[in-house]
Amino acid sequence: MEKIPNPLSPQDKAKRIAPLWRELVLTWYKQYGRSALPWRNLSGENASYGVYVSEMMLQQTQVKRVLHSYYKPFMESLPTLECLAYAPEERVLKLWEGLGYYSRARNMLKSAKICVERFSGALPSSYEELIKLPGIGSYSAGAILCFGFYKNVSFVDGNIRRLLCRVFAQSEPKMALLEELAALLLDVKNSFDYNQALLDIGATLCTPKSPSCLLCPLIKLCQGRNTPHSYPIPKKSTLEALSLHLALCVYNESIALVRSSQGLYHGLYNLPQLPTKGKNWGIKYGQYKHHYTKYAITAYVYEVSIESLKEDIAWEEVEFLPIKSLHSKPLSSLCKKALKMGGYRL
Ligand code: ADE
Repeated sequence: MEKIPNPLSPQDKAKRIAPLWRELVLTWYKQYGRSALPWRNLSGENASYGVYVSEMMLQQTQVKRVLHSYYKPFMESLPTLECLAYAPEERVLKLWEGLGYYSRARNMLKSAKICVERFSGALPSSYEELIKLPGIGSYSAGAILCFGFYKNVSFVDGNIRRLLCRVFAQSEPKMALLEELAALLLDVKNSFDYNQALLDIGATLCTPKSPSCLLCPLIKLCQGRNTPHSYPIPKKSTLEALSLHLALCVYNESIALVRSSQGLYHGLYNLPQLPTKGKNWGIKYGQYKHHYTKYAITAYVYEVSIESLKEDIAWEEVEFLPIKSLHSKPLSSLCKKALKMGGYRL
């Protein structure tokens, strides 16, 4: 009887390909890697802070946006973890304005305060302590250890996950398997460049929708190269439709705003929301679409007098902020679009 060969386990495959994989990854990085990114060129004691800021900003956000509009102003305004710890929340949120997922910024502020109290104002350099800080998960802790403290550790973010899933033809793998594979493949001689390279290959070549397999240095090792869309099976993203009715109420050169005290916009200013039922508000300014996290929002903007506003919303939450002061307040993008629609450019 013909013997059917046992397929290699992913772990055995990782051990077998590791030397070639590392060489291919690092050779590619020398030529094509984004080695000039500012958070890849830090040194000295403050490097871990610069890396921390970049990693928090880069969660769910593209390099281009972080690079062009956020990283430099943040580092100039709050150059050390101690500066961050003593900064008012409003200032931190202003620096984050437009990046979304504002809990990242609030968690950074909380973490900075903890580090001042417990670690003399520096980030801890152990996985166990890092992971206890608010907003730092297993991926971020690994990235901070590797890029900020030059430790030989591996980690798996969304981009590395996709790359490993394809190379090892895994459609719905457990995170523990991917972390094991990442550890087996790690180049301990140059883990900094190696891990940055994996992030780059994942983000620029091994993309979710149209991977550039023919340009990928790992193509000959990749079991998923003919059917990349099967690995990993995409999670269903269900966008929730949401209609919001926003009141633009101007009084005495000031605009009525509400500072969210919880939820996705916690700490940011928004226009007051009108109840959907009841009065026929009559559209004055118009409507627009806005995407935020899992919500597909249609916002309707109404011109509302101060008297009507008092009747229809929780009045004690409203703050009238001078139009002149708005440029220094953290406003949600949803709110900025509505203000623009009403003719207010900030
Ligand atoms: N995404 C997460 N970390 C990153 C890094 N260090 N460089 C580029 N993209 C990233």
